[in-house]
Amino acid sequence: MPPQLNLILIGPPGAGKGTQAERLREDFSLPFISTGEMLRAHVREGTELGLAAKAHMDAGGLVPDELILAMAAARLDEDDTQDGFILDGFPRTTAQAHALDDQLRGEGRRITAAILLDVPDEAIIERIAGRRVCSAGNGRTHNYHVDYDPPKHEGFCDQDGTALVQRDDDRPEVVKHRLAVYHEQTAPLVAYYEEQGLLRRVDGTRAPAEVHDHIRALIATLRLEDSL
Ligand code: AP5
Repeated sequence: MPPQLNLILIGPPGAGKGTQAERLREDFSLPFISTGEMLRAHVREGTELGLAAKAHMDAGGLVPDELILAMAAARLDEDDTQDGFILDGFPRTTAQAHALDDQLRGEGRRITAAILLDVPDEAIIERIAGRRVCSAGNGRTHNYHVDYDPPKHEGFCDQDGTALVQRDDDRPEVVKHRLAVYHEQTAPLVAYYEEQGLLRRVDGTRAPAEVHDHIRALIATLRLEDSL
């Protein structure tokens, strides 16, 4: 049996983490765990966590670690992660990275790679301005871009037919703050995973299909190395 494939996708808001995670989920039949999606589901359902998280999310700040950690740890313990997982948006702070390491170590698991989608800030602003997401509200949001990744029928999701909308935190002034928060609180994780030899850099400015091919090739190499 191949070893677990435990992947982390790191990158600024709008780098394409969700876009690639969706593709990789299909390639490898692994659960795609997005803390942003999980939080948006809590907000929609009006749970205590959702109520506590909403103001932070709308302002483009991070939800406090103590709220995120329990949610992420419980999700990682679900049965569908036995063969591995694809994490999108977690960990996002050094404290979260340490907590993840502790949890995995305690379960005899380890991270296979942290894949950094490198995209400069200027490209991010343009991408997020054009992002549209489906409004199904069923926990599986599909992402589009009006120019770079349009749906087959303008304004509607290819997968579930619902109307496409803009995310509340995709307003330009909020995006600038999300980027600043990324550089201050999440970018230090790049060095953290680099020091452990786990970081793999991918040029995220290329077209989605090219980025996808690059990540698949990278994973094939990792698997080969693991089997040697
Ligand atoms: P979250 O949902 O995780 O948002 P994010 O990290 O800001 O990332 P995005 O979803 O905005 O972007 P993405 O990288 O997935 O890009 P996408 O594929 O959509 O978090 C939201 C909020 O929740 C946070 O601000 C925070 O408040 C809270 N939160 C979540 N996790 C947390 C944590 N662990 N701790 C604390 N707080 C947390 O692509 C973007 C657009 O570009 C799309 O339109 C897409 O079609 C297009 N696109 C994608 N790839 C390409 C490409 N290669 N070329 C051209 N266009 C492309």
